[in-house]
Amino acid sequence: AFMFCRRARRLGRWARAMEIVKDFEEKCATPIDKLRKVADGMTAEMEAGLASDGRSNLKMLLSYVENLPTGDEKGLFYALDIGGTNFRILRVLLGGRGKGVVNQEAKELSIPPNLMVGCSHELFDFIASEFAKFIASEGEEFQLPAGRKRELGFTFSFPVRQTSLASGTLIKWTKDFSIEDMVGEDVVSTLTKAIERQGLDMRVAALVNDTVGTLAGGRFYDKDVVAAVILDTGTNAAYLERARDIPKLHGLLPRSGEMVINMEWGNFRSSHLPLTEYDQSLDAESLNPGEQAFEKLISGMYLGDILRRVLLRLAVEASFFGNIVPSKLKDPFVVGYPHLSSMHEDASSDLRVVRSNLKGIFGISEISLRKRKMVVELCEIIAKRGARLLAAGIFGILKKQGRDVSAEQRTVVALSGGLLEQYTMFRKWIDSTLAEMLGNEAASVVIVTHAIDGSGIGAALLAAAHSQYPELDIV
Ligand code: GLC
Repeated sequence: AFMFCRRARRLGRWARAMEIVKDFEEKCATPIDKLRKVADGMTAEMEAGLASDGRSNLKMLLSYVENLPTGDEKGLFYALDIGGTNFRILRVLLGGRGKGVVNQEAKELSIPPNLMVGCSHELFDFIASEFAKFIASEGEEFQLPAGRKRELGFTFSFPVRQTSLASGTLIKWTKDFSIEDMVGEDVVSTLTKAIERQGLDMRVAALVNDTVGTLAGGRFYDKDVVAAVILDTGTNAAYLERARDIPKLHGLLPRSGEMVINMEWGNFRSSHLPLTEYDQSLDAESLNPGEQAFEKLISGMYLGDILRRVLLRLAVEASFFGNIVPSKLKDPFVVGYPHLSSMHEDASSDLRVVRSNLKGIFGISEISLRKRKMVVELCEIIAKRGARLLAAGIFGILKKQGRDVSAEQRTVVALSGGLLEQYTMFRKWIDSTLAEMLGNEAASVVIVTHAIDGSGIGAALLAAAHSQYPELDIV
């Protein structure tokens, strides 16, 4: 009788586990008609956000980028890129007409986590001092003529209300940054002052979001690039809009007739988004509750934490990891997207990558094969939902641009970000979902390219296009 009871209990737990997973899967479902509604919602919010500020959950920020790179840019330029866990410094030497980038040097550093939530002075002093070190180590050939300032493009990947191409104030922080004293401050003057404190003479020629930088970088190599999407710690998109379709420009029409818009689509919200109780609790316990709903379903900072929350439920309600709940399961953000992708893509027959990840992250040593399979299934549910929603967002942009039906116009969307580089399955879901939404004819001319570090080069190119010394260069 005792054995029988144990078996019954085990079966009961397994049934409960299956129930939890099934319920999660159903709530995460993204059938095509739902995705079409999400895309339509995106298009409608885009229009509202372009009409005037504050009308939509999409900020549709003006970038003041009216012309994208032509390929003729020439000279020595720098880029600083901050927005995720890493900070990047880049120097490029542009050869001019048709010659492209003739020399390039990059340095990447991780940002000490305490600086992401401290005060702005500390963060910017860190950036400026690393930049000063970079400059100090440069060779003779990169010295500029006396009196000439170094010029740079500053990629700052947060929502900024720009007042011109090279100025703007921070609206709010997103992702894992939260530095109170910076909100509402001018980003460029904060950087410039920090650089001056290092004794450097420098001019910020362009302030750009990473999406805008990626769009500019993409255009340098392919003239049909019309939109860019970032999928990394956060997610966002930028695209080229006709000035006459931007009422909030109030007649300030750029000569080119176009302007790049930074959508800040991470903050998109819609009743059609498939939200679960796990997403709700993640949001409530995040640094920015009530904000960035789309981002929290899709981007690298959050995917792993959704998995952790489902596993915690399984542990509590179905004794998934034995009789005690491993305490690490309660720590937020311990699961990164590299964990998720490596478990999801575990090709070994005994799922040993899943096993080692669970051991490494949560200290769970014993877990059966069928349970490991269930973990893979959870990764699949989470990634598939994220990728399909992201594809719906891209489809919404193409719709807004009138490029969702034509089979004539070649259209290129530049996609960039660490998550895309590392997570093949995620990328495949994006591609196949977009093809499904477009239909055969349009899908044959819409191309999604995966740009690597487009945003740094793009910022340097925009700095070049807006240089104070268009006639002088050292090439
Ligand atoms: C967040 C930021 C946005 C950025 C994106 C990708 O959504 O708010 O500005 O483009 O992350 O880095």
